[in-house]
Amino acid sequence: MENFLKKTPLKRFHLKDFRYECFLGKGASGSVYKHSQNKETYVVKVLRKDGWEEDDFYEDLLWQTEIIKQMGRLEQSVYFIGFDVIEKDNNETVALIMEYFESTCDLYDYINYRQFWTKSYDKHGYSYKRGNVYSKYMMDKKQKLQITKRFLEAIEEIHSKRVGIVHGDIKTANIILDKDNRMKLIDFGASIFSEENGGLCKTDWNHGTLGYSSPEDTNHYLLGKGSDIYSLGVSLIEIWSGRIWGDAEDFQTCRNEVLRALRMIEKNDKEIGTILRKMVNVNSKKRPKIKTVISYFKEKNLF
Ligand SMILES: Nc1ncnc2c1ncn2[C@@H]1O[C@H](COP(=O)(O)OP(=O)(O)O)[C@@H](O)[C@H]1O
Ligand SMILES: [Mg+2]
Repeated sequence: MENFLKKTPLKRFHLKDFRYECFLGKGASGSVYKHSQNKETYVVKVLRKDGWEEDDFYEDLLWQTEIIKQMGRLEQSVYFIGFDVIEKDNNETVALIMEYFESTCDLYDYINYRQFWTKSYDKHGYSYKRGNVYSKYMMDKKQKLQITKRFLEAIEEIHSKRVGIVHGDIKTANIILDKDNRMKLIDFGASIFSEENGGLCKTDWNHGTLGYSSPEDTNHYLLGKGSDIYSLGVSLIEIWSGRIWGDAEDFQTCRNEVLRALRMIEKNDKEIGTILRKMVNVNSKKRPKIKTVISYFKEKNLF
């Protein structure tokens, strides 16, 4: 920990000077709370240390804080102001402090709320059968395009020359939305600095989440901007088709589900399907860069 405290570029705050407001949620890497100070509201993420060797935890965290520092203040990602070391369950851990974004839910839940189950089939582009009920997905094209645009811009920002990071865990659950559908990208616990040439970097664990994670990350622990493009492609397929693959257990089963949903999009919204298919190419070199994806939407007058 001494080494972390000496080297981290993030500023240390004292959480005891903040007022605790409420608990917001619990994720895989920690619990999230709302705090305030001088009328400003912040989010505090208390990191979980279980499953980590002490040294590895701080080494990984040092890396994460360097990434956060490099990001600075971006439009479409949450902004981190600093950290504190706190006592939790008779153990010391780190709490990251970031801006509070008044979100109503994450994009994963938002998509699920627009999924309706009916007994009778009614002709609808994104209807499919599960067991003996039919799912009907209710999100209009204008809204899908708006969400797509903001999602692409968030990735463009972190992949830019100035920032140059790979998020590593792009998925709809790591996007939070407010009531006006503004969005922020969160959760940089799996992020890495991108290779100079934009190629793949060898890591020692699978960074992404099954279903969204690229084949190179899932099978070989290789990560690059192209891996984010794959996960973004899967997330967009989820937004457009309303289908999710939460219960699949291995890469191929998820991939089959993703391709099934993609075929549905190709049938209903061909232009969208064309670019999404390129984004989820199994070969990372064949996937388009984020700028190319955005240009495609502009050329087709979709944005
Ligand atoms: N800056 C923020 N503003 C508002 N809510 C947030 C913020 N950051 C996280 N949350 C809430 O906390 C949840 C978990 O955060 P996340 O960083 O994704 O944790 P994990 O790594 O455990 O998945 C999010 O789904 C969201 O509801
Ligand atoms: Mg998360």
